[in-house]
This record gives sequence, C-alpha cells and structure tokens, in this order.
Amino acid sequence: MCGIIGYVGQQQASPILLEGLRRLEYRGYDSAGIAVIDDGEMLVRKKKGNIAEGIARELGANPVSGMMGIAHTRWATHGPPSDENSHPHLDASGRIAVVHNGIIENFEQIRSHLTKNGHTFRSTTDTEVLAHLIGECYEKRTADGAAGNPLADAVCEALRDVIGTYGLAVISTEHPDVIVGARRGSPLIIGIGNGENFLTSDANAVIAHTKQVVFLNDYDVATVTADRFDVVNLGADTADVQVRELEFEAEDSERGEYAHFMLKEIFEQPRTVENALRGRVDHEGATAVFGGLNMEPSELRSIQRIIIAASGTSWHAALLGEYLIESLAHVPVEVEFAHEFCYRMAPVRRDTVLVVISQSGETADTLMALREAKRRGHKALAIVNVVGSTIAREADGGIYMHAGPEIGVASTKAFIATLTALTLLAVHLGRMRMLSAGRAEEVLKGLEALPAQIEGLLAQSDVIKRIAEKYSTADDFFFLGRGYSFPAALEGALKLKEISYIHAEGYSAAEMKHGPIALIDEKTPTVVLVPADAMYDKTMANLEMIRARKGPVIALATEGDTQIAEVADDVMYIPQALEPLNPILASVLLQLFAYHIAVARGCDVDKPRNLAKSVTVQ
Ligand code: G6P
Repeated sequence: MCGIIGYVGQQQASPILLEGLRRLEYRGYDSAGIAVIDDGEMLVRKKKGNIAEGIARELGANPVSGMMGIAHTRWATHGPPSDENSHPHLDASGRIAVVHNGIIENFEQIRSHLTKNGHTFRSTTDTEVLAHLIGECYEKRTADGAAGNPLADAVCEALRDVIGTYGLAVISTEHPDVIVGARRGSPLIIGIGNGENFLTSDANAVIAHTKQVVFLNDYDVATVTADRFDVVNLGADTADVQVRELEFEAEDSERGEYAHFMLKEIFEQPRTVENALRGRVDHEGATAVFGGLNMEPSELRSIQRIIIAASGTSWHAALLGEYLIESLAHVPVEVEFAHEFCYRMAPVRRDTVLVVISQSGETADTLMALREAKRRGHKALAIVNVVGSTIAREADGGIYMHAGPEIGVASTKAFIATLTALTLLAVHLGRMRMLSAGRAEEVLKGLEALPAQIEGLLAQSDVIKRIAEKYSTADDFFFLGRGYSFPAALEGALKLKEISYIHAEGYSAAEMKHGPIALIDEKTPTVVLVPADAMYDKTMANLEMIRARKGPVIALATEGDTQIAEVADDVMYIPQALEPLNPILASVLLQLFAYHIAVARGCDVDKPRNLAKSVTVQ
C-alpha cells in the first residue's frame, strides 16, 4: 500500500513521476502528490482522489518544472484521505519534503515532543511528524557544522527515534541533486539509469526506464544522485548491495485493449498456467521438479508436517494447498492466517516446514509469519510472484509463480499460478512418499490440459456476463462447495465482495444447514459449486435445501451433467477434469462472474474502494 517514486537526472521530473504514479496506482488511490525542486524552490502539488482526477488535473492547471523530485500515491492509514493528508509532507522550514509508505507507530510521542519544540502540523498523518523530525535533525546538524552528508545523516538520526515501518524518500532544496531513501518493512528499490536514477516502492514504476535495480534491505539508507548511489545499513557495518536485472517487460504491466487490468489478467490465465508449469514437469520420473526449494531430497522426505501461512486470496490458495498436499502426498498440513500464526505462539513440532504464499512478496502479515518461523528455527519456503520481493529474498527457498505483473487489485492470475505450483509441489512431495507414478502422471497431464480448457472457459465470457447481469442487483450472495470446491467457494465470494461490494459469504455446502441457511430467501442467490466429483450427491442435497427455501440457485457444474439444469436457475459449466484441478477451472468462471457483476453495477473494478494490492502494514 502507498506507492513511491523518485527521479533525479537530466529530464523533466514531473512527467516521469506522473507516469510512475499511474503505474503504482494499484498501491493506493486515496490521494497523490509530487514535490519537485526547481531553482532552489520546493514545488509541491497534491490532491485527494485518484491520479487522473486529482494530481494529473492539478499538474495540468499548475505545472511544475525541475529535474528531480519525489511522488506518492496514498492508501490512507493515519488521517482520512484529504488534500492536507496527501504526501509529500514538508518539514517546518518547508525545505525538506518526505513521501512515506508504512506506519510510524510512536508518532504521537514524537509529535508531542516536536510540538513542545514549537512545531505546528498541517495534517493528521504520521508522515508529517517524520518530516518535521528529519527537519529538526537537519537543522541541528547544519548548525553544528557536522561533517558528512547532512541530509542522509539527518534521516539516519531521525530514524533512530522511530518505531514502525517505512519505505521513504526525502529531498531538500539545500541538496537539489540528492534523493535519500530508507527502508524498514516497506519495499524500496533503486532503479539505475544512464545519467539518471530512480527510487521506487515497485519495480513496475521504473520498468519503462531501466531493468537494472537494487532491492534495498531493512535498515538500508540510500543516497541517490543522477550518476551514483551509495547505501549504508543502520544495523550493519556494510550494506548488501546487489544489482539485479528485472525479468519482465514494460508491456506486461500495461492494460492493452482490455477494459480493465482484472479482465486482462483473467484472460492471461492459459499462459499463466503454462508459465507456472514450464520446466517443472518430469514425465520420465512422473514427478515435478523445482530449482529453488533449496532442500535436499532427504530433507523434503523427512518433513512430517507443513504449515501454510498467507493472507486474503493467497490464504484461499493455501487452503487448497492443504487439500492437495494431504491427498496427494499424505503430509499433514495446517493453514494459518499469517497474522494469527505470528502472534498466537502455537506450538509447532520441530519437523515442520512453513510455507508462505504471497503474490506481492511484501504483505507485512505474511512476512512476519516467515520471520517468526525462521526465528523459531524452522525451514521457511515461499511461493511468491514478485521476483526480488522481501519474502522471496528472506525465504530459505521457494517457488516463483511466474505470473508476471499482477496489477488488478483483486488477485486472479496469481491465484491460478499458485494453485498450479501447489499441485506440482503436492506431486513432488507425494512421489517421495506413496503417490504412484500412474496417479502422478494423471495429475501432471491434467495440469498440462488446463491452458486449453481455460481458453474454452474464457470463450464463455458472454454467457457468464448474461448470468451475472441477471443477479447484479442482489444485496447478498452465498457461495457453497464441498471438498476441493469449498476453498474455491470462499475465493468466489471474496472476488465478488472485493470488486462489487455485494455482501457475499462462502461456506462449506455441508455447513450451510448449521446456521447460514436462516438467511436464504428468494432475494438471496446462492452459487453452488457442484462439479462431477465424490461430493456430487451430497452437494446436490444441499442445493435442494436452498431451493426448498425459494433461494435462487446458480450452479457451477461439469459439462455432461444432465440433471443440473433442471434444478438450478442458471448453470455455468466447466469441462471434465480431475477432482483436484476442478477449483482452478471453477475459479476462472467465478472471476468472470464477479467481474461482470461489478461492471454491471458500475464499480471501478481495478480500484475497489478501501483495498490495496499490497498491504505492507500489519
Ligand atoms: C491484499 C489484497 C488481496 C491479497 C492479499 C494478500 O489484501 O487486496 O487481494 O490477496 O493482500 O496479498 P499477497 O500479495 O500476500 O498475496
């Protein structure tokens, strides 16, 4: 949440910063702002609202010029969205500007200390407090005539008093050629250009300019000028600085001909599965192979228990991971909300491996779960999409999703990539235990058939749209499924509520009768996932219970089911597939269903209210 970009070089900064903000908008769209230094003057423009209606319009009316600056798009934490609370924030002198992603937990104490020293504040944000603190440290240092780089030193000094998380960028009119960046808990990346450099929260924002990046580590403080950068680490003698090459193209994070990023990403899913499978299927050994687990076969063989920790959509993938790994590999799996795992101090057996799942690789709750597991001495693997992200770097090993940039705030292709990876992992672990070569081959071939099957589902988009439009005015929805379809039902409900704001609940179809059925009436549609699987008859019985209470039923069934159209009001069909792969197919249809409902309701699909793509605060 909150996107940051800074530029220093030979070009006009404001168009570069504005374009960067557009590419970062999925990180927050409550407000946005930029600060540019021109001829010793700090020019700040900031506005409530999304980028097109807020800052872009403001810059159109009040342009700024200057070859360096910083910019920010906000997801509000402290203080509601408003012009005043927008970043950048200035220090008391007005000569230092700060943009920040994260939370300063002790900002009240710092604020009262600064207030006693005569500071007054224009906003209710924690970031403005930080700007004033840096300003005070800077004044002290320059008054004392301290040697060194006073802006970077002032940032370091200020951060020693700060409790919380930050990715920040700081500029000063006294040093118009330098951006100082610092990170703890929130991502920050240096983009290395030719005679120009960048500082950003996401590689996505600089990919059009450079592929050479340095991912900063916690406690790093970077001083970036047009032709060099220096990094120190507040907790170590030297900083670990590695220049890496980004592995995606600028077009990968563009919307192209699609109306929304979410739709584009739904339609990319045949390729998503192919990419997640590439190089990982070994038909000869009837197994899956991974390059980065960093565990010896003997270590993998001796895993007695797995805990999978994640948040949001990734948590639903984790739940499916439990079903997959337990049934194919017979290893007991427990699934935890990442934040619960961190703090409830559950006893964990020593032969347990933690697997975290995160599209962004930056979700604070998930990162903390990873660190907690490592602190307790467990191996911690990660299934991550964003290459070079904090979780990817801190995990002992793992699997990249290879889904490419996911920009739509509601996760789609990363979910499908994760399920593909988890199925492969289940086969891999299973083949070290008792999974037969024949069954493993069936699953691998089933995975390889998915891209063509998903193409077929996408071709049904208009059919799904018609069904979606019919139910788009409902206020409440249920999504039910049993077995493998239960986590898929949870994810179907989450997709709908995230982007259409319809109250939607996912339940086990079996659990429905133990309470939620009280809410069924003729105005409450239920999506029942009833593919041809071992649970079919039982789920059909649950479907009848809903019909008996006059609840409209939209069934998601397997092609060839001749019974379902007679009992359901509408039916969405998936092709024949192995039971463990049904959720992948079902989820594609449920994504389309949620998408078309949201569009019918006039919702801003790519910028759902109150949400952020990557939640870097706890
Ligand atoms: C946020 C997003 C969700 C996402 C969750 C976990 O809440 O809005 O769409 O599923 O974070 O994100 P991660 O990047 O860790 O998978």
